Amino acid sequence: MIDRTRLADLYAREQREFAAKHPRSAEAYARATHLFGRVPMTWMNKKAGGFPIYFESARGSRVRDIDGNEYLDFALGDTGAMAGHSPEPVVAAVTKRVGELGGLTSMMPTEDAEWVGAELSRRFGLDAWSFALTATDANRWAIRLVRALTGRSKILFHSYSYHGSVDESLIVVGPDGEGMSRPGNVGAPVDVTMTSRVAEINDLVGLERQLAYGDVAAVLIEPALTNIGIVLPEPGYHAGVRELTRKYGALLIIDETHTFSAGVGGATRAWGLQPDVLVIGKAIGGGIPSGAYGLTAENADRILDRDDLDLIDMGGVGGTLAGNPLSIAAMRATLEHVLTEQAFEGMISTATGFASGVQEVIDRYGLPWSVNQLGARTEYRFAQPYPTTGTESDAASDGDLEDYLHLYLANHGILLTPFHNMALMAPTTSPDDVRAHLAVFEAAIAELTAANWTHEAR
Ligand SMILES: Cc1ncc(COP(=O)(O)O)c(C=O)c1O
Repeated sequence: MIDRTRLADLYAREQREFAAKHPRSAEAYARATHLFGRVPMTWMNKKAGGFPIYFESARGSRVRDIDGNEYLDFALGDTGAMAGHSPEPVVAAVTKRVGELGGLTSMMPTEDAEWVGAELSRRFGLDAWSFALTATDANRWAIRLVRALTGRSKILFHSYSYHGSVDESLIVVGPDGEGMSRPGNVGAPVDVTMTSRVAEINDLVGLERQLAYGDVAAVLIEPALTNIGIVLPEPGYHAGVRELTRKYGALLIIDETHTFSAGVGGATRAWGLQPDVLVIGKAIGGGIPSGAYGLTAENADRILDRDDLDLIDMGGVGGTLAGNPLSIAAMRATLEHVLTEQAFEGMISTATGFASGVQEVIDRYGLPWSVNQLGARTEYRFAQPYPTTGTESDAASDGDLEDYLHLYLANHGILLTPFHNMALMAPTTSPDDVRAHLAVFEAAIAELTAANWTHEAR
């Protein structure tokens, strides 16, 4: 369907264009010899243009790079900036803490923490909250707690899920239907099948087969996969998961870090889910490192009543800077003033416009692609119908096509998340921004599929 020679030609042209537009970024990258992989964090080497775009500043949905190029940002820090860049109430709260009050980390509670806990309870329904600085850490600590609660060792994940660099989670369903290490896993402490089990999303039979071993402490899942495209649950799937987890004595941990896009209380509230533990990170701090995990009152008491568990000192649940005044102030400001019910209404309606516009382009050009939406988040995938499992969605990846589209969009002032084709709406994303993206997206497709193309001999 896609002419690969043409794709390669167009991609090469976009790379030349990218290099011409980003000389300072190219120089900064060439100079960065004291950084591991030349970047502050190795995933910043996901660079369709050959080197990363160096960030200068951002407000709302707009980003500027050090070469003076401006972008409409649909990546939003892969959800960390879903509240928009530097939203005013967060800036005010953080500035007050940093400047006026002083004290960025203290190991002493602030009164804001109870406000944040109460608000998380109102939104997500769990009773007792604890804080972390990343969703990865929130997941790690949730895992320790469910092991302590159940006395079981294994955690069960969806194949091709992502929950941060949590050792247990790097498992996929192998060709024989059993678990195996996710390809590329760095430095696994032990064979992942010793700590984990795995099933495809939307496969209740596979899930039951794994739970029947009787060693699963908890099923830790996103309500929909969001890190291998958006793979939505089929009707009845979540009711089945809850029934099976109860039947086999496993707890249910829902990770709402990305599915928070579904609404103020994430997919848990939108779809009436009943987790035993809920994890969330990224956007709740408006960009300031934040994470949280919530327990039911009953499970919280069961843990707190145990004399054999050290929750105060060396027991392994912690992080010196977790729950620090800055992070808590940022969470309060974000939840109280930015990611409100009203904001979500606007974000979701903007995303609906984005998804239907992309679908129209796909239809107009007769491409075998499809679009999914999860509240304020949309994603198109190079498959039709849209994949229904992680493994199928992984198989629908097309790195060359993604690189071309990402680079074409970036050269025309649009940022998609660097991984797959996710576009996220902030409260500041407008229907005009969506129209601007669609015009560029369509132009990229038109060039790729034009009838009057001739191969550029290189
Ligand atoms: C569902 C989910 N959970 C956890 C994480 C890890 O978040 P962090 O990198 O902030 O630790 C991610 C990151 O993408 C995620 O998508």
